[in-house]
Amino acid sequence: MKHESLEKNIGLLAIFIVIAISFGGLVQITPLIFQPETTEPVDGLTPYTALQMEGRDIYIREGCNNCHSQMIRPFRAETERYGHYSVAGESVWEHPFLWGSKRTGPDLARVGGRYSDEWHRVHLINPRDVVPESNMPSYPWLAERTLDGKDTGAKLAIFRDFFSVPYTDEDIAGAEAAVAGKTELDALVAYLQSLGHALK
Ligand code: HEC
Repeated sequence: MKHESLEKNIGLLAIFIVIAISFGGLVQITPLIFQPETTEPVDGLTPYTALQMEGRDIYIREGCNNCHSQMIRPFRAETERYGHYSVAGESVWEHPFLWGSKRTGPDLARVGGRYSDEWHRVHLINPRDVVPESNMPSYPWLAERTLDGKDTGAKLAIFRDFFSVPYTDEDIAGAEAAVAGKTELDALVAYLQSLGHALK
């Protein structure tokens, strides 16, 4: 029997095993080569506005992500507190992503809309004014620094050209005007309020 002689001839068997595995590998790998993204954005995902994008940069600059994660794990205790667990399709346009795992403060993945803008402003200038036992640092300078928006358009263009975030030419052309004159606090609050709305 042909099959028996194949099983008994170890060299031949090895060759056929390699061929079989290669087919399996190709079936899995080839489609990925022709797929522009392995993770598709969730339906409701919208790119950050110019102001929110500046707010995100301030969030990174001030190191907010050292104390706050943006990643709700799929456990009862987390979803009861923070809402639906985070999914990959919400983060496809995040560069760099800010998931983190260190939680000195609460997770912020879905903090958008949880508090008013005014609450955030007071809280960021001095957290103890609204949460007396808070050990979060104060960020009073955010209210005093004004953005000029000079680099904002270029930032959006980079996200469009390198990371395929769907910004239009108008978004990029209008970015400077959308940001100029706003304070860093305005931008950071706009960013915080935008977090977590994509997944309904
Ligand atoms: C040293 C750690 C630390 C840093 C750095 C920090 N936070 Fe916090 N944050 C906390 C803690 C602790 C709390 C919970 C107490 C409170 O609400 O103030 C908190 C609460 C919050 C809340 C309220 C969340 C909720 O669901 O109640 C927001 C929003 C927030 N922080 C934003 C920020 C932003 C924006 C920055 C950066 C500018 C920042 N935090 C930096 C520790 C930190």
